[in-house]
Amino acid sequence: MPQKIIIDTDPGVDDSIAISVALRSPELEVVGLTSVFGNATNEITAQNALRLVELEGHGNIPVARGCDVPLVVELESIASEVHGNDGLGNTHLPAPKGKPINKSAAEFIIDTVRANPGEVMLVPIGPLTNIAVALKTDPQIVPMIKKIVLMGGAVSIHGNISPVAEANIYHDPHAADIVMQAGCPVVMVGLDVTQQVIMTPQFFEEVFKVKNPATNLIKRILPVYQAYHDRFHKMGGSIHTHDPSAIAYVINPALFETRSVPVFVETIGRCKGQTVADEHRQWESRKDIEVCQGVNSAGVLALIKERLTR
Ligand code: BDR
Ligand code: CA
Repeated sequence: MPQKIIIDTDPGVDDSIAISVALRSPELEVVGLTSVFGNATNEITAQNALRLVELEGHGNIPVARGCDVPLVVELESIASEVHGNDGLGNTHLPAPKGKPINKSAAEFIIDTVRANPGEVMLVPIGPLTNIAVALKTDPQIVPMIKKIVLMGGAVSIHGNISPVAEANIYHDPHAADIVMQAGCPVVMVGLDVTQQVIMTPQFFEEVFKVKNPATNLIKRILPVYQAYHDRFHKMGGSIHTHDPSAIAYVINPALFETRSVPVFVETIGRCKGQTVADEHRQWESRKDIEVCQGVNSAGVLALIKERLTR
């Protein structure tokens, strides 16, 4: 039986790659996408989520629109210099045919988990607002969630949006702190590993040899994201593999090494969004999560390439 997943997403160039990898993986059943603000406004990311499922021939997969703003902090500038004004590399694709369903993201998550107790994994690859709202609204779903595999955070290296914070956590640190102590199994696929998985121009050259809806789209949306990586990280056309690494973890966790540790999120001040692993349990008691600290990069890249080109 394929693993049921809900992808909570802010597409987003790397979100788009992640969603295509998931939709092309027989091990997974994508039961829905939920949108959130982040790489663009939530209005735009919801439209992009619809575009992506339609483009891949999965227009039947429900898309639920989520939160427009963080729980407590102000909505900070949208990442248009990273992903383009439209979240998809300034390609300004035609409007999708479908519409978001008539439920909020949190309602969709709650109803889907309740209808499939113990079977659904949540895979947030954007700010964690929708997941936190679902957990707060209906705490009884916690034991029914199989696992939360999130892309976000950095415990042993510096951040990307600030010296200490990764962008998804930074955009809603209060929500992230709720998810870190959700109580169900949580896996953090953070910058510690996603910055070790590098998609190079040669990688994309190979991928683009195969023409299909996914590779055609990625070819169009990639340049803005590459330009950001060049400007900020001096990567010469290569990019980090953030969101697709979370999907790779769900498909094959053996590609990652994890360690169990409680994680806290700083919510205020200069260190807002910092994810702190309480290695020696010196702060108040909190359940461990699994933090990815090692990755078989070649294995993750091979998996992504194989899925995108099938
Ligand atoms: C995360 O931030 C976003 O820009 C990406 O889509 C990814 O989810 C990486 O820090
Ligand atoms: Ca994302």
